[in-house]
Amino acid sequence: MGYIKSAALEETGYVVLDRYNQELDPKEWLDIEFVDWKSSGETRFAPLASKEGEIECNGFWHGQNPRTDKDGVWIPSQVEKAPNLTRRAQEPGANVGRCRVIELQPTDYADCLYNLHQDDNNRLNPDGTGWVVRGFFNLTDDKESYFVLRENRTDPSIEHRIALPAGAQLIVDTQRLWHATTHNSETARYCLITSWESGPELDAYIAKYNGKARVPNVEVSQDILDAGQAEQARRIAERAAYYAAKGKAEVTAMSEA
Ligand SMILES: [Fe+2]
Repeated sequence: MGYIKSAALEETGYVVLDRYNQELDPKEWLDIEFVDWKSSGETRFAPLASKEGEIECNGFWHGQNPRTDKDGVWIPSQVEKAPNLTRRAQEPGANVGRCRVIELQPTDYADCLYNLHQDDNNRLNPDGTGWVVRGFFNLTDDKESYFVLRENRTDPSIEHRIALPAGAQLIVDTQRLWHATTHNSETARYCLITSWESGPELDAYIAKYNGKARVPNVEVSQDILDAGQAEQARRIAERAAYYAAKGKAEVTAMSEA
C-alpha cells in the first residue's frame, strides 16, 4: 500500500516556506525547560510535546505503548510558557509527534558534514498512513548559519544549503535526506522542530505558505567546502579504523533525535 506522502517534497525532499515574522513574538525559548540530549553537535532540547507528556526526548518506540512519531502529548508546563510556539506547531492541523526546541552550540561546516544523519521518524509507522516529516522554524537570527541537506552522506554533488535567519521555515523529509546544521556564531542557535504526519492538512499548509522545493544555495567558498569534505572523509575513516581494531562492525543506526 505504501505511505501517504507530500507531492511537494518529492523532488528535493524539502520545501522552504514563506518567512515568519519572528521579531513580533517574545523569545519564548528562553523561558521553557531544557534537558541535556545529544544530537549532531553540542545540543539540549526543550520538549513541548513528548511521548507521555513528560519533559524528556526519547523516541516514541521506547518503553511501554511503543508507537511511531505521532500522537505526541503536549506538556502543560511548557505550553503555558510558549503559547506562540505551540500555536505555530499546531497551525497545520496535521498530527504532531515530537515537538521541541533545539539549542545548538556553534559548529562549523566540517563538524556539520560529520554530523549528517537520517532520522528514524517512521519506525513502527503503520503502512497506509501518513509519512512523518519534520518542520524546522528558526528562532534566533543566525545570519551566517545554514542547514545542510544531502541525498547521500558522503557525496557533495547533491547538497542543499539553506539560510537560517530568524523566521526561516522549512519542512524536510529527514528520513530521506541526510541533514545537519552549520552554525557559524558565538552564541547558541534555537529552532523549533516538529514531527508532522503527511496528508491533506500538511499539503494545504505548504501551499498556503508557498512551499518551494528549491531555493538558492547559501554560498560557501570552495576552500571551505573542500576542506569540510576532506575532514568528513578523514573522521569517517578514523572511526571505521577504531571499530575495525576492536573487531566490531561500526554501528550506523539512524539518529533518534
Ligand atoms: Fe535529525
